[in-house]
Amino acid sequence: MPRQSIFAIFDGKKLKPFLVFRSVCTIFADCMKDMIRIGLIGLGQRGMATLRRYAHVPEATIVALADLSSETLEQARLLLAERGQREVDIYQGESQWRLLCQSSEVDLVYICTDWASHARMAVFAMQQGKDVALEVPAAMTVSECWDIVHTAEDTHRQCTMVENCCYDTFHLGIMQMVRLGLFGEITHCEGAYIHDLRTDLGWVSYTVLDHMGNPYPTHGLGPICQIMDINHSDRLVSLASMSGLNKVNNTLLRTLRGRTILLQFDERTPRPYSRLQTLCGTSGYAQKYPLPTLQLDGKTLLQGAEAERAIEAYHDADTRQLIAEGRRLGVENLMNYIMDRRLIGRLLRGKAPDISVYDAALWSCVTELTAQSADQGGRLVEIPDFTRGRTLN
Ligand SMILES: NC(=O)c1ccc[n+]([C@@H]2O[C@H](COP(=O)([O-])OP(=O)(O)OC[C@H]3O[C@@H](n4cnc5c(N)ncnc54)[C@H](O)[C@@H]3O)[C@@H](O)[C@H]2O)c1
Repeated sequence: MPRQSIFAIFDGKKLKPFLVFRSVCTIFADCMKDMIRIGLIGLGQRGMATLRRYAHVPEATIVALADLSSETLEQARLLLAERGQREVDIYQGESQWRLLCQSSEVDLVYICTDWASHARMAVFAMQQGKDVALEVPAAMTVSECWDIVHTAEDTHRQCTMVENCCYDTFHLGIMQMVRLGLFGEITHCEGAYIHDLRTDLGWVSYTVLDHMGNPYPTHGLGPICQIMDINHSDRLVSLASMSGLNKVNNTLLRTLRGRTILLQFDERTPRPYSRLQTLCGTSGYAQKYPLPTLQLDGKTLLQGAEAERAIEAYHDADTRQLIAEGRRLGVENLMNYIMDRRLIGRLLRGKAPDISVYDAALWSCVTELTAQSADQGGRLVEIPDFTRGRTLN
């Protein structure tokens, strides 16, 4: 487990003295921090949005930027200057991100580049002693997923995936209700990324065109894995996937305890935006899309704003506070704001991020496994257990 306990460093492994020494030093250094210094790699659409969002995170400061384009870097630098932030280090070019990762000014390397580069950048950043936040998906192949898991374990750094849908206010209410047992046993969940992006060619070119399966599974799957306590009391064991015309993909996943998940991906039809967010339990049912709905045994069926209000009434104190702050600040998107504040807050307090490297790897490996399965007509494919049984209780 990355950095859960100082003793975990000696946990039945061959000791690498330099890594142990550096881990001990960084653990002590972490305890002294009052600010997380971010090096941001990739200033495209998402990276620039991230840079703007962090104006609202008082315990973090962006100290370094890397991108291929000097114009983009200049735009980003001006944006930071406009909000009175001190000069930042600029790294321009194909391999300059490596210098950003090596900078002693940076605590957290935040990666917003294209998918193919995520894992290799994350591995290098951790090897330089940095914590890492990866945009979705964290990696594109099972082998890359193992790379980030092994490196996080060897270096004792945090490697999280910034899966913002895990901070959707509807989902955060559902999670509290699940913890209170209001749905009984969760038996089946459905999730998706359904977004008509036919006119957004930039995006489509690297998502749909080359991929036979579901290249973008984590918005749907991440929240479901949290609801089903995957990587803790249950785990994903197998999947079967089929892609149809327009590369609309449907995947069924099964858990060790025999529960099921339906995951869909569709960016090429006029179907209205949806992540489904559907859960079936032995004593309750909820869905967010297309119409928020809540049905609990013995209670009236609630739909629309009524269902949303009923679910969001279960938010814990921390979520309520962040939502109130976000509204006061007028942030564009509450789930991103909650995600950013929680990530930085936890790192500052020396706590593991909400989404572990095992979660990041598991939710992302579905990218390759769905392609393997779909390519072979829907053959059942095994899903690796990145925890090797260690968090299964
Ligand atoms: N969570 C969300 O809601 C959400 C939304 C949009 C995008 N994303 C994710 O964000 C990531 C980026 O997406 P995008 O739409 O911003 O892509 P983009 O193509 O607009 O931006 C990628 C950026 O990375 C830079 N880059 C590429 N290689 C580099 C290198 N070697 N060194 C430095 N910079 C390099 C490019 O110059 C470019 O500016 C993807 O993983 C995507 O899935 C997430």
